[in-house]
This record gives sequence, structure tokens and C-alpha cells, in this order.
Amino acid sequence: MKRSGFLLAGLGLLATPVAALLRFGCARSSIQRLDPLVNPGLNPSPHLHQIVGGNSFNITMDPTKHDLASLSTCTSCQFTEDFSNYWTAVLFFRARNGTLKRVPQLAQSGMEGTQGGMVVYYMSDALFDTAQKSSVTAFKPGFRMLVGDVSFRDRNQSRAFRQLSYTCMDSQASRSPETVGFPAGPCKLGIMANHRFPTCWDGVNLDSPNHQDHVAYPESGTFESGGPCPSTHPVHLPQLMLETVWDTSAFNNKADWPTDNSQPFVWSSGDQNGYSSHADYLFGWQGDSLQKAMDGHTYVSAPMLKTQSIAEQNKCVVKDMVNENYDGWLPQLPGDNPM
Ligand SMILES: *[C@@H]1O[C@H](CO)[C@@H](O)[C@H](O)[C@H]1NC(C)=O
Ligand SMILES: *[C@@H]1O[C@H](CO)[C@@H](O)[C@H](O)[C@H]1NC(C)=O
Ligand SMILES: *[C@@H]1O[C@H](CO)[C@@H](O)[C@H](O)[C@H]1NC(C)=O
Repeated sequence: MKRSGFLLAGLGLLATPVAALLRFGCARSSIQRLDPLVNPGLNPSPHLHQIVGGNSFNITMDPTKHDLASLSTCTSCQFTEDFSNYWTAVLFFRARNGTLKRVPQLAQSGMEGTQGGMVVYYMSDALFDTAQKSSVTAFKPGFRMLVGDVSFRDRNQSRAFRQLSYTCMDSQASRSPETVGFPAGPCKLGIMANHRFPTCWDGVNLDSPNHQDHVAYPESGTFESGGPCPSTHPVHLPQLMLETVWDTSAFNNKADWPTDNSQPFVWSSGDQNGYSSHADYLFGWQGDSLQKAMDGHTYVSAPMLKTQSIAEQNKCVVKDMVNENYDGWLPQLPGDNPM
């Protein structure tokens, strides 16, 4: 996977539409040990998540009853018609003495002031194809999916999911190389976790028991290379991609790193290698706003969508329903997940 950092660096600053690729920031709405997709009804769920999007996020979000767009009163995302929820695990630093500290997040260039969160993309063609002319079918109300597997602990397993990766950020523009596991050495401006979801849908099921079988990867190539969808999953979805920058800069003193030269970062699930990278998506765009935006063939900006300020995004928070401390030096990961 090669992407040019130079081009991407400009994306945040592009004010006029060039040619449908959406790129927008979402502030953190909460950090808590909940997972209404994989562990509905369970409080607390096994590991800590950082959650963004609509404020209807809850312990249980029954797909037949919980309409994210109508139950949310705000969203932490820039586009105010997007009440979807997106979440990932949380990164921790493990000191030599074994105590752990949550790694803060860094807003990307052009989105300074955003509290935590991530940058979300919806694309109809490859990232740098400014024409974005392919047609894609937007997700339907009630659609949800999971990419990655929290139980994975080796590189071979992680091959089951294409394009879940990390970028060692030397500057805000760094986009390559991408690695499958955590970067081995200190990263000046943090570690970016890249989550690209599958882009082919069976056209019928809004979800599946493992939250994965209703979607698939292209049968050859990648979404970005225009790879065809398999006949079992013929519907071409937008490429949903999440970028989360974990600001590891306060933890880059090698004297604090393990004596065996291994890297000190660990996912909230207990994974020290990074192979268990995963992300969850509950679709929640209002009406046909996402489809309209994808049909608009714009690049980065989307004049047909309503936006809000970063200050407004930061205000849309979900209350803590777990009441557990996850900050300061901790003797163990929340949930006491083994490493
Ligand atoms: C979460 O669900 C409970 C139970 O249905 C409800 O009382 C509460 O208001 C919900 N919270 C939010 C933020 O919607
Ligand atoms: C563990 O190490 C960290 C980082 O060096 C330090 O800030 C913290 O106070 C230490 N905690 C204990 C209990 O020694
Ligand atoms: C790698 O993973 C595949 C399936 O994911 C499995 O069939 C194969 O045996 C694994 N190979 C090794 C060397 O672990």
C-alpha cells in the first residue's frame, strides 16, 4: 500500500471542491468499556474503547429499535447529518515498572482543537483519484460491521484483514510506510492507526452473527485498485477508512522502554504487537445524506452537507455509563486484560 504523504498533507487545507471523497474530523464523544456491537448489554465490556459520532451511543443499541439518526441530538463529527458511531480500542504505554498510562490523541493538521477522536473517510475511488467517479451504494439504516479480530496475536493471523495498519508519524504528513504491527521504534509525532473496512456487501443483511460475513473484500486487488466485488457480495460500498493518531511523543524516551528493546505500546485489549487492530461501525447518517454526498463527485469538501465548528463537535459528549478510571498511572489495563 503506497500513499503519498505530500498530497495528503494538503487535504486538510483544501477549501474548494476539486472534482465523492469525504474527509472529516470527529471528536471523542466518550472513552468507556462498552461495545454495543460485539457485547450488547454488557457493562463493562472486556476492553476500553474510544467512541465518536452520534450521542445515542449506549450499552445496548438494538438494530431493530435503535435508529441512531433520530435518537441522537448531536454528533461529534464535522458533518452534522452523520450520527453514526465509530470506535476503536485505546492505546496504552507500559513503563519499565509495569504501570500503564493511556496515550493521548492528536488532532490532524487543519483540525487543531479537536478533542481526541479520529479522521473519517468515505471514498468512491482511490484516495488520490480526485475525480471520484465510481458509483457506490451507501450503507442502509441499521447497517453495522466490524473489521479486525481482537484475539489475533500474530502476523499470519492478521493477513485475514487487508489494510489494517500503522504509520510511524515523523510529521503530520507521514503516510508511509505502513506496517502491520506496531512500529518498532519511537515515532516523533505519534502512531497513526489506519482502519479500512471491507467494501463489498451481500446486498441483503445489515449485520451477521460475527458482524463480518455480510461484507467482503474485493475478489482481487483492492478497493483502491478498482478490484471487483465477489458474486456473493456484489454491492460496491464506499471505502470507509478511519485514521486515529495516538500521540506517543511523551513516551519516546528509550530509557523508559523495555530493556529487551521491544516497543512499549499496548492496545487496551492487552495486545502488545498490534495485530489485533479492530474497529466498529454503526451506520447512522440521516436520510439519504450519505448517498447524496457520494453521488456528488466532490473531493474532501461536500457543499451538499451541513457542517459544524470544532467547538460544537467537542461539546457532543456521551455520559460515562461505566464509571471506571482510565487515566493516570494504572497498575493494570481497565478490565485487567492480560498481556
Ligand atoms: C441509554 O439507554 C437507557 C435505557 O434504555 C436510557 O434510559 C438512556 O437514556 C440511554 N442513554 C442515552 C444517552 O441515550
Ligand atoms: C512507573 O514508571 C513511570 C514512568 O517512569 C513513573 O512515572 C511512575 O511513577 C512509576 N510508578 C511506580 C509505581 O513506580
Ligand atoms: C496462517 O493462517 C492461516 C489461516 O489464517 C492458516 O491456515 C495457516 O496454517 C497459518 N500458518 C501458520 C504458519 O501459522
